[in-house]
Amino acid sequence: MGFRAVFLGPPGAGKGTQAARLVEERSPLHISTGDMLREHRSKGTELGEQAKAFMDAGKLVPDELIIAMVEDRLGGVETGSEGGEAGASPDQSWILDGFPRTLPQARALDASLATPLTHVVYFRVPQDVLVSRLSGRWTCSSCGAIWHERFKPTRSEGVCDNCDGALKQRPDDRPEAVSQRLEIYSRDTEPLLDYYKSRNVLCEVDADRAPDEVFSSLTAELAAS
Ligand code: AP5
Repeated sequence: MGFRAVFLGPPGAGKGTQAARLVEERSPLHISTGDMLREHRSKGTELGEQAKAFMDAGKLVPDELIIAMVEDRLGGVETGSEGGEAGASPDQSWILDGFPRTLPQARALDASLATPLTHVVYFRVPQDVLVSRLSGRWTCSSCGAIWHERFKPTRSEGVCDNCDGALKQRPDDRPEAVSQRLEIYSRDTEPLLDYYKSRNVLCEVDADRAPDEVFSSLTAELAAS
């Protein structure tokens, strides 16, 4: 049986970085609501237009929009119309990265899953570390790889090591948006820790360590049932 995991943690905790490595080594489906919304924006869809102002200000996109988007995607995963050859096999693992972020989202997820979550992984990082991670983050505009000017620099400034794509900074990594995101995380998302603790699926990874060490702890947690 594969894992069906939620990655929970503040902005900049390293959820996307660890998810990318897990995809490389274990091939779970990676469902990132932030990436999905950025894709909608780059394609100019109605949802992308609706989400833009919320995202750039560091606010959450309204629950009803996000829940509809995720239910649509998970429906594909659970019926096997998504996920390539693995389809809906119970061995097909998946990660939800950045969802749920509010109690209504968590309840909607519970109601929509045919088989319950196996893990909710909380990435714990102190706030001052988060700010320095977000302010130095650069993302490849072509392949989406995540870099950091100090912690994970590219060989050549502004150019992705993987595909030579141009690097860009996210608009919501500006200082005003970062403080807003951290505040909203404490208010709206942190209560999910108790929600999932009471359901016995919560595990914790100390994410204030080198990426390799974080990855070892993460895979150990996912191997435990
Ligand atoms: P989203 O894209 O989900 O952003 P986030 O949760 O704020 O998380 P981040 O992507 O900022 O951080 P991360 O934990 O993935 O860290 P990363 O690996 O990049 O959401 C964006 C927006 O979309 C939201 O603000 C909201 O508007 C909207 N949205 C999305 N989902 C929503 C939902 N469910 N409901 C409502 N609205 C929603 O790492 C950060 C940096 O640190 C990188 O530079 C990386 O290289 C570096 N780094 C990573 N790990 C380490 C390490 N161990 N040591 C040193 N550096 C490290």
